[in-house]
Amino acid sequence: MTLPEPHCAHNANDLSAVESRSRWYKKPMLDFWQSLLAALERLAMLPSLIHSVLPSLPSRKRTRDAVRTHERPMDDLLREIQRLLEAPLDPEKLLHMSGRLQDQFSPKLQASDICMLPSYNHKLPTGREQGTYLALDVGGSTFRVAVVELNGQQPAAKSMRIVSMKSFKIDESVRQLRGSQFFDWMAERIETAISDSQLKNINGATTFPMGLAWSFPVEQTSTRSGNLLAMGKGFRATEDTLGQDLSELIMAPCRKRNLPVRLDSIVNDSSATLLSRAYEDPATRFAVILGTGFNIAVHLPTSTLASSKYKGYPQKWRDEATHVLVNTELSMFGGKTVFPMTRWDEQLNEAHVRPDFQPFEHMISGRYLGELVRLIIVEAVRTAGLFGGEIPDKLSQAYSLDAGTIAALEIDESKNLANGIALFQSRHPTSRPPTYNDIHFVRQVSQLVAHRAAAFLAAGIHALWMLRTTSEGLTPETAGKMAIGCNGSIIEKYPLFRELCQSHLDELTTASGAEPKSISLEVAVESAIFGAAVAVCCLEA
Ligand code: BGC
Repeated sequence: MTLPEPHCAHNANDLSAVESRSRWYKKPMLDFWQSLLAALERLAMLPSLIHSVLPSLPSRKRTRDAVRTHERPMDDLLREIQRLLEAPLDPEKLLHMSGRLQDQFSPKLQASDICMLPSYNHKLPTGREQGTYLALDVGGSTFRVAVVELNGQQPAAKSMRIVSMKSFKIDESVRQLRGSQFFDWMAERIETAISDSQLKNINGATTFPMGLAWSFPVEQTSTRSGNLLAMGKGFRATEDTLGQDLSELIMAPCRKRNLPVRLDSIVNDSSATLLSRAYEDPATRFAVILGTGFNIAVHLPTSTLASSKYKGYPQKWRDEATHVLVNTELSMFGGKTVFPMTRWDEQLNEAHVRPDFQPFEHMISGRYLGELVRLIIVEAVRTAGLFGGEIPDKLSQAYSLDAGTIAALEIDESKNLANGIALFQSRHPTSRPPTYNDIHFVRQVSQLVAHRAAAFLAAGIHALWMLRTTSEGLTPETAGKMAIGCNGSIIEKYPLFRELCQSHLDELTTASGAEPKSISLEVAVESAIFGAAVAVCCLEA
């Protein structure tokens, strides 16, 4: 999934608050965050924004023509969508959802082999570890192999550096690879990457020490091994390999190819994000991943999980560890007992290859934001005459609307949405070009879907923050401040996503008694790949 870089001109005639929130997206990515923050400070808009992303709906006059021959007027449908998607966003309702999530945590902390998974990492890095490692990052849509240099706290050197990196796209054909075929595919890519001359010599060693960030659940059996658990995101690699040792599945084809590599560490990508962020800021205790998939890792007292969760852990580990890095697999929590479901959430779930497997992810991650908007578009075409009653090209196919497309519409500031219209027409043509009203509708729906996702994420973070706070014997009042490392295309780049989530989080934590701004969401760039290397260097320390 590729999200657009911010761009676009300014349309002075368009005065709705929703649209004005996207005016800041004018500059290239480098100074984008700076200019966004400056604009936010000037406008101080977020507190009011979080209560409604659509303060004013398009007038009946604008939509009248399009609806003449359809079941319901477009603005009537839009009002219903707004009501359904915004109704759950009051702080009291979000706090209630956080409470329901906390109720769901309790049994899973006692027993579950698919979520609340402890790792073998009990200490966080000091930030002084040094070395050069081969880091593998298997994400939902890319496999990356990089040489990563960790420099500790050396003056005048970046603490972490990617010396070189090769990126391989994971498309549908790769996702469809079954069992060992997928691991052969990985080994072939590792071979390509290490044949690059820059990778020839790591630390003068003959065998490259590798760390893996795995963006799927894994039941760790040691720092370097773990049993393969069910994979989401449309992957089929677990067919005939479920429960097998992930390290061996990767190393066997590497050995067949005589690759000079050794897999020293396996961590989930959320744990990798936490480790990499902790390498730079030792106060880090949480990490959020929100891209194609969704997850949160948290450093918890070992006693938060039942002792049965540490089955097979060596006695030495049990004696030494006071805390443990936990992969919560938060995507698997939620569902209708926590979050109100709309008919589009239900349609998405029913049509999913693994219904109910990751209900939280279905409402907030990059793989699903576009799909929810697509389902609403299809209904609007059929019942309210959107796009003149014609389904745009490909949009009748599931997952054909990319989060990058809706993000681009959200940041469009061109006059009368000319850029957005052109972009949409190029990706999803119709026999007549879309009108301003069509694209304006899609954009408003996208804003509502994304805003709901940001608020639900805040409820999820709040729930885990409460768990950690009580596990540490603290209260919200005494919990103090903390930074959360954030990684993934949606939380890093989707227009205003992180800011909206932060605003909801501020409301929820202060309502619980914490000091204002006690949690700050901070972007941890490239943290999965860095964290894969940090995990290896922690073993050596
Ligand atoms: C997976 C997690 C992963 C997350 C983010 C989820 O679908 O189950 O293991 O951490 O995506 O990549």
